[in-house]
Amino acid sequence: MKKISLLVLAMLFCFSAAVYAQQLPKVAILATGGTIAGSTDAGGTVTTGYKAGALTVDTLINAVPELTKIAQITGEQICNIDSSNMTDEVWLKLANRINTLLQTVDGIVITHGTDTMEETAFFLNLVVKSNKPVVLVGAMRPATAISADGPKNLYNAVALAGSPLAKGKGVMVAMDDTIYGARDVTKTNTMLTSTFKAPNSGAIGTIIDGTPHFYAAQSRPHTTRSEFNVAGLKSLPKVDILYTYSNDGSKVAAEAFIKAGAKGLVVAGSGAGSIHENQLGYLRELAKNKQAIVVRSSRTGSGYVPNANDGTLNADNLNPQKARVLLMLALTKTNDPKVIQSIFDKY
Ligand code: SIN
Repeated sequence: MKKISLLVLAMLFCFSAAVYAQQLPKVAILATGGTIAGSTDAGGTVTTGYKAGALTVDTLINAVPELTKIAQITGEQICNIDSSNMTDEVWLKLANRINTLLQTVDGIVITHGTDTMEETAFFLNLVVKSNKPVVLVGAMRPATAISADGPKNLYNAVALAGSPLAKGKGVMVAMDDTIYGARDVTKTNTMLTSTFKAPNSGAIGTIIDGTPHFYAAQSRPHTTRSEFNVAGLKSLPKVDILYTYSNDGSKVAAEAFIKAGAKGLVVAGSGAGSIHENQLGYLRELAKNKQAIVVRSSRTGSGYVPNANDGTLNADNLNPQKARVLLMLALTKTNDPKVIQSIFDKY
């Protein structure tokens, strides 16, 4: 008799645990590599010289058993790379997979290297067609380090992606207990776990004990209000970035980019988008002859770049790598400089 009641109790426990689990939000984790999946044999105190993109999505998920208490998790390996090697091909694959998955899950987490996370985040912010949360997360220390930041960051990202509070906020980056909007977030330090900042607008929230708290929103259109759609695209228009500096020799690079098929060039200008005369004349000619769209951004890391009224366009306050993303997407729709400038003014 005692044995039977114990069995019934155990069955009841399993049944309620299963019912409880089914009520948890469905969160898909798409892994792309980076330091969060980084590993080294050199020891726990080593945080450089490791291999990024060494561990699989299953290893990352299994390292944080607490995830199963806050979400029904599935994992997929999209690629396993150092994000400094990110490609348009991976971006298109990610965008298409996210748009499909969001029809059935409540939120998505993308594990990603921190080096180019801001570019992938901004790209997805403009091409994901859903108001469900999409969160990018990474780590500054490899998984083998003492005090690795990956597990806590991943827990926060899953909590955020599964939260109804995060709906309609666009694509976000969750790092170091902080929530950033994809448009404004940027990596500002090579080593520190507090590397991510949003210099023009600030963070949009924090995550405390697995609960997101929002204090601001992304003001520019994103996701469901964005006009860009990459479904069916096999490639993206080629846009390259030039830098300006004392005794600038970049005209050679600009010519090579155009020869290689660049449809657009973004210049990391000095100050408010100034460009050295050594390359400026050539760039103005390109713009005048409609050979390429030239967009002025700034190498300062923040601030508005005004229009120079010389045929070149201005990137608003997007940094060069973000301006490049927007120009690529703009070029999927039009070659008209006036329309492209209006896109920069809007997004
Ligand atoms: C990477 O971006 O893949 C390496 C660096 C990092 O994730 O912090």
